[in-house]
Amino acid sequence: MSAILNHIHQDHRNMRRLLDMLDTEVSDLTTGADHDYALMSDIVSYFNHYPVRFHHPYEDKLFNWISGERPMLASLVEELRLEHKTQGILCREVSMFLKAIRAGHIVPRDKVVAQLNDYIEVQRDHIDKEEGKLFKGMEELLADHHMIEIPIPNRAELDPLFGDEIDIAFSALADALERGGGPRRTRPDGSD
Ligand SMILES: [Fe+2]
Ligand SMILES: [Fe+2]
Repeated sequence: MSAILNHIHQDHRNMRRLLDMLDTEVSDLTTGADHDYALMSDIVSYFNHYPVRFHHPYEDKLFNWISGERPMLASLVEELRLEHKTQGILCREVSMFLKAIRAGHIVPRDKVVAQLNDYIEVQRDHIDKEEGKLFKGMEELLADHHMIEIPIPNRAELDPLFGDEIDIAFSALADALERGGGPRRTRPDGSD
């Protein structure tokens, strides 16, 4: 497989793992089971970090290349590019929403569940669209010689969760991933 597609697929796998984890937390919230707002907040913060800063900009550059080579894909590419913009805004909104809840603002549970389910759906739909409609069958077009023109982001250095060094801000999330999600637990600093 081309290194480009390999990289994109791995980023998407990482994001899907986090969306599954968020989904589990939201299900627990829906049923009134124990849930972890800090974990949900960490997941959204991660999406605000590596995916927004590096994954989307990299894809945007690939989109330019693709729409030049395959004009019939131009409208799909434009749709995905717009979704990157709206996702960035949505990520910030959801992040602030969770911050307000953790700061003690009372928000009806139904509203929290609806907002987070919407967030998960938007993220999953975007990844599914890219994987199923755009990058599928792109092996030849995205051959590795394009890496020189559009360098692949160095995940090992840039990703604060799946890179070589886990950023302290994401250490609790990394622990949760290690456990495969898992139940809420008290954090070392006592926060929830
Ligand atoms: Fe994307
Ligand atoms: Fe993507």
